[in-house]
Amino acid sequence: MCGIVAAVTTGTDVRAVVLQGLKTLEYRGYDSAGMAVCTEQGLDVRRKMGKIANLEEELDKNQLPESATAIAHTRWATHGAPADRNAHPHVDDQQQVVVVHNGIIENYLDLRAELAELGHEFHTDTDTEVLANLIAHYRKSSADLHQAVRSALHKVEGAYGLVVMAADDPNTLIVARLDSPLVVGIGEHGRYAASDMPALLHLTRDFLVLDNRETAVLTPHSHALYDVHGQVLERDLMHCDWTPEQAERGGYPHFMLKEIHEQPDVLARTAFDRFHDLAGDVDFEPEFGLDDRTLQSFERLRFMAMGTSFHAAQLGQKMIGELASLPGETLNASEFLYSPRLPEGQALTVVVSQSGETADTLRAMREVQKRGGRVLGICNVQGSTLAREADHLILTHCGPEVGVASTKAFFGQVTALYLLAIRFGRARGVLNAEQGRQFLQDLRALRHKLEYCFREETLATIQQAAQYLSGVRSCLFLGRSFQHPVALEGALKLKEISYIHAEGYPAGEMKHGPIALIDADFPVIAIATPGTTYEKMLSNIQEVRARDGKVVAVAAMGDDKVAAAADYVLSVPAVPELLAPLVTVVPLQLLSYEVALALGKDIDQPRNLAKSVTVE
Ligand code: F6R
Repeated sequence: MCGIVAAVTTGTDVRAVVLQGLKTLEYRGYDSAGMAVCTEQGLDVRRKMGKIANLEEELDKNQLPESATAIAHTRWATHGAPADRNAHPHVDDQQQVVVVHNGIIENYLDLRAELAELGHEFHTDTDTEVLANLIAHYRKSSADLHQAVRSALHKVEGAYGLVVMAADDPNTLIVARLDSPLVVGIGEHGRYAASDMPALLHLTRDFLVLDNRETAVLTPHSHALYDVHGQVLERDLMHCDWTPEQAERGGYPHFMLKEIHEQPDVLARTAFDRFHDLAGDVDFEPEFGLDDRTLQSFERLRFMAMGTSFHAAQLGQKMIGELASLPGETLNASEFLYSPRLPEGQALTVVVSQSGETADTLRAMREVQKRGGRVLGICNVQGSTLAREADHLILTHCGPEVGVASTKAFFGQVTALYLLAIRFGRARGVLNAEQGRQFLQDLRALRHKLEYCFREETLATIQQAAQYLSGVRSCLFLGRSFQHPVALEGALKLKEISYIHAEGYPAGEMKHGPIALIDADFPVIAIATPGTTYEKMLSNIQEVRARDGKVVAVAAMGDDKVAAAADYVLSVPAVPELLAPLVTVVPLQLLSYEVALALGKDIDQPRNLAKSVTVE
């Protein structure tokens, strides 16, 4: 997905810091990169297809002049193939206005035809070049760049995160946003803009977050925010609690591996400050905003999310059902629009998203709100659209997740949902204080137990199983009850980063079809941890064995029965059934990682995937 970084500063040369910011966005996936600067001599642009390293090479050969103002972009092709000429930044045909843009201008063909009639010439296949020319067109009747951008945006249909710079105004940047994230960073030596906060953490941790249809005028010493009518808006800055180090690899070969290893800390960050041990309850921050009476008033819950977050949401539904006796359903957010329009009644919709910017998820959330429903967001990114638009909020505090395949975010979401289940259970009188304390204590104890998942012997078995799996074409992940969403998540992780086909199923479903696939070349990954489903999982494993299928089992340490039946055992510490997903998911994440490593895949940037899916 495209990334934006821009800076307007007090006279220092910003080329290097802008490039550094751009590199932090590499993980999002892109096919070309570019940078433009503005000096007294006018605009200067370099664009290159391929990795940022190609752009750097170009900048070495063909330097941009030093400049206190710069805009830069990583492009993920939508309109026009990946090519130098289609890379951003884009200038108008008179080289007066330069633009970087995330999103899609839907009516660009009509606008292009209108501008062509007025004599504008186009040299790329992109929608963004049309935008640059449209702004330049309005600039002819108004010297005010901000006014010209606003006039252009009135004509535009689609989505944009936008930064604009003009040749005759090197000390100003105009930024705008509609359905594509954009933040402004406030620094001592300037103002910055980016599509994602991590790109600016090396410069500032104070941000102004733009809402849809807002614009801002940035100069080295000032920033002014405007609504769609051009009225000035006042907004408090948001201080981001992420550190620049959190957005770095920290000695690990891949972000994904670093993030898997961070999970014991995520547990502490998401949960421990929220424990109210005396009351056996959970204290969420004020933005949670749901008191006991309101929590008692809900008659049902609806969970919505996509991808990995959807699997966390499924677990949330089960946990709250268990601890608070509250019925619920979990919907894939992209399907919500097509579900029957039943009255919302006394329902709470829990929307789960790491980024808080997933288009399908946001669309579903807004639809619920339009129908008069209430939304509780569970989200990792402070200031994201979900965090701002949800009626109630729990932040997961995982720190920035950079690896495209989500790991620690899932862990944080499940942890937060477990806390929510306790809160619901206490508020509704299903749990007494003693029981609440026990559930909190179980979670506290998990941090230490998780260490077992990272022991050398555990990792060695995972590597052996990974060697074997790296040679198969397809496999099945099975789990029951609380381990069913984990089976789905295990399969998703494997296919995402190793491109091996994998399906997750509730184990009970195996005999209803998938069993036909099983033979000596078709392995099953079975999660068989202690609890209500253990015996049935053992039977499933036997059924696979009886058909010559190989079994990779996830089981509690010292479980001889599973060990006797399985070809590989990924052992985990014994923990209460409700928390078992938080330990079983770890070896499955590591397993996918090791398979992808053995196959030499690009683990942090798997093909065709984007970290944040901002189009439906
Ligand atoms: C899988 C993955 C995706 C995301 C999904 C939702 O590893 O990362 O499936 O979980 O795109 O993203 P968020 O959680 O940002 O809404």
